[in-house]
Amino acid sequence: MHLTLQMSKGKVQIFDTTLRDGEQVPGCKLDTRNKLIIAERLDELGVDVLEAGFPISSPGDFDSVVKISQLIKNARVCGLTRAVKKDIEVAAEALKGAKKSRIHTGIGTSDAHIQYKFNSNREAIMERAISAVSYAKSFVEDVEFYAEDAGRTDNEYLARVCEAVIKAGATVLNIPDTTGYCLPEEYGAKIKYLKENVKGIDKAILSCHCHNDLGLATANSIAGVINGARQIECTINGIGERAGNTSLEEVVMIMRQHPDLNLDTNINSKLLYSTSLLVSESMGMPVQPNKAVVGANAFAHSSGIHQDGVIKKRETYEIMDPHDVGVTQSAIVLTARSGRAALAYRAKNIGFELDKLQLDKVYTEFLKVADLQKEVNDEDIPKIIEACGL
Ligand code: KIV
Ligand code: ZN
Repeated sequence: MHLTLQMSKGKVQIFDTTLRDGEQVPGCKLDTRNKLIIAERLDELGVDVLEAGFPISSPGDFDSVVKISQLIKNARVCGLTRAVKKDIEVAAEALKGAKKSRIHTGIGTSDAHIQYKFNSNREAIMERAISAVSYAKSFVEDVEFYAEDAGRTDNEYLARVCEAVIKAGATVLNIPDTTGYCLPEEYGAKIKYLKENVKGIDKAILSCHCHNDLGLATANSIAGVINGARQIECTINGIGERAGNTSLEEVVMIMRQHPDLNLDTNINSKLLYSTSLLVSESMGMPVQPNKAVVGANAFAHSSGIHQDGVIKKRETYEIMDPHDVGVTQSAIVLTARSGRAALAYRAKNIGFELDKLQLDKVYTEFLKVADLQKEVNDEDIPKIIEACGL
């Protein structure tokens, strides 16, 4: 038997932060009612952890975390805090009604954060990290620690911080590339280094939290899980501060489409497209048409060569079945770049079977219309056929 068949799939936890990091997008604030609708959908989608908010940040956020905690049936509900006692107390209070809860606490560990944000030093920051985790642990069993700006933190110091917070009770170690700086090799090597150098690492899960400033958030997260991380923090449509966070739909489908990685998630991928629409509409934040997996053009074909291939066999130009992500079908878009095969296909779909001679005639007329319009629609086809005297 092949080796990959013998091994059981490595499960990667999906930690969704659409309602916390994602909601930090300027102008996209959600009210509690919309947050509850999205939270319920994320639970149905199968996320393992749902970061519901930053409870101390505002009364509205506190209220949302309380209500989401009471509503959610399956996912673990998580609240963010700084390494500050009051933050932790407020988060614990907000999460009280959750079936399963987690406090996510942490502090900046890069020299830039230590020096400029905290005017402090490495040892003092380490002490604050330990105290925050111990304090959070007095309220909940499950405590995740984030080493903010871990992407630019010296690996040796980062390993010492990780070791110390595991001793203090951290169950998950979040290694954020807060500024989206790392290259995939670099981020993967950081995770590998922690796996190999942190005593007690088998008592905790390493988590990837990557930002997209250089367009590498997805690649970095995948490099992280290839090197031993077992949680990815991500958002629907990759929304988030600046250039955004890792896109949930991308990492989920990368693992699905590459069984050789031997990694998978609990996500019901058939709900990805509708969840993307829900988040985009609720936030008033359109999805770019060429967005991987959920963009309007992700399964649309407009050039003649591609259309001919897809009509003959979908797999010639598609690596994913659109049904697997909840898109009803691949689209054959008619433009001036389309060929006869696409025109015949679309005409047939609306009841016009054209023989070769008819198709030649209609195609010539079609090109005239297509040159004037961006796209030729189903309503245009009968008119074009009629103009040919057919
Ligand atoms: O990007 C980041 O470092 C964060 C932490 C607060 C987890 O969002
Ligand atoms: Zn972040």
